[in-house]
Amino acid sequence: MNKIEIALLGLGNVGTGVWEIFKNNKDEVTRRSGYEIEITKILVNDVDKDRGVNIPAGVLTTDIEEILNNDNIKIVVELLGGMHPAKDYMLRAIENSKHVVTANKQVMALEGKELLDKARKNGVLLYYEGSVAGGIPILKGIEESLTANKIEEIVGIINGTTNYILTKMSLENMDFKDALKEAQDKGYAEADPTSDVESYDAMYKLAILTSLSFGLDVDVENIYREGITKVSSLDIEYAKEFGYCIKLLAIAKEKNGTLELRVHPTMIPIAHPLANVNDSFNAILIKGNAVGDLMFYGRGAGSLPTGSAVVSDIISILRNDMTLRSISTVENKENSKQILKRDSYKSQYYLRISVKDMSGVLGEISTIWGKNKVSISSITQKGEKEGIVTLVIVTHDAIEGDIIKALDELEKLDSVYSLDNLIRVEKFE
Ligand code: NDP
Ligand code: HSE
Repeated sequence: MNKIEIALLGLGNVGTGVWEIFKNNKDEVTRRSGYEIEITKILVNDVDKDRGVNIPAGVLTTDIEEILNNDNIKIVVELLGGMHPAKDYMLRAIENSKHVVTANKQVMALEGKELLDKARKNGVLLYYEGSVAGGIPILKGIEESLTANKIEEIVGIINGTTNYILTKMSLENMDFKDALKEAQDKGYAEADPTSDVESYDAMYKLAILTSLSFGLDVDVENIYREGITKVSSLDIEYAKEFGYCIKLLAIAKEKNGTLELRVHPTMIPIAHPLANVNDSFNAILIKGNAVGDLMFYGRGAGSLPTGSAVVSDIISILRNDMTLRSISTVENKENSKQILKRDSYKSQYYLRISVKDMSGVLGEISTIWGKNKVSISSITQKGEKEGIVTLVIVTHDAIEGDIIKALDELEKLDSVYSLDNLIRVEKFE
């Protein structure tokens, strides 16, 4: 049996999952890869930290040179997180002819092209299945099984932390902060959870999915991004009254050569399959012009699910699986498609607004909507407190540019106390 040495950079949530999988599934991994794989070095910040796993003496190190300058190590698995020094270590590993596996969506979304080009030039492979949707084999699904299709649409829940928070807020009336704390304790959140709750993480993942699905080098600046921090228990309650729930959706749609790329909280009908994707589960709907609609579902975060994706990438490299080679290429360097600007998005909108409890308010508000070509589907008045009432307005399909103009005007009305939240409504017709 051939032996191979590999190194991990990082032994946190994902790193320990990878270590456990090698320990518990040793026979399967050996049989499927054709190699006896040994993790001989692991880079950490603190070699004395208790990680709940038994690592043999001499394996943990704080010195990256012990890994990058060791010719016996053939694969470097980057699980540090963040841009620096992760990107630099990956580049140096590639330059030293080592294959690289990573779960780092930030690096792959922002700097993936440079790394992939370098890997190609150096004749090594760079795989990153764990970077999108944890344990769901979505990148290989797109690159291997859907290559016959022109992909038209991707709609997904691709961040486990925010889905966990929204699920707990919605089903257990849990407070945002407590739910985030639980997601962190379970190892789902990024080291800085701002990346999760402000949707940077989902934006990076959408950029990677779009690159592979539409063959583009996507600039994240072209993705409209909104986090979940403004979603309140009131929005969740009112959504339920309409038969909807709130999910953080990542959307990439192509129509007539124009791409729409956005990540934001969205109201979706409770009968839709994505509405039942809860906790840290992720799901991605893909529409291909030949295959039709597909749904990928599974754990989108966590130690073992992400470890599963990472170890399968290591095995793919050892099999020298040429069918996956293109996962390391973005063929089309040009941005040949137009990106739809936010002003042109079209959907229904939910608006929660606080107004002074005085006569004529509804008339003023309706006039402004009408003037801006927005027609109202429903308007409901909620409880009164100290002379302020909440209005919940749902529009018919409208153009977002018109909604923005109407909101600007509403904000200036004396009778309007505050514009509390605007959420897009997706009916999936
Ligand atoms: P953690 O923060 O749990 O672990 C990071 C590890 O890297 C720690 O062991 C830390 O060492 C080590 N580390 C960080 N910086 C350095 C450095 N400069 N030098 C040496 N060691 C360093 O992160 P996760 O395991 O959660 O995430 C790792 C990557 O996987 C990220 O890119 C993340 O986005 C991605 N990912 C995470 C998922 C999850 O569910 N958590 C799912 C999918 C992808 P020490 O412990 O000593 O401090
Ligand atoms: N923080 C990420 C999430 C980890 O919650 O989805 C998985 O990429």
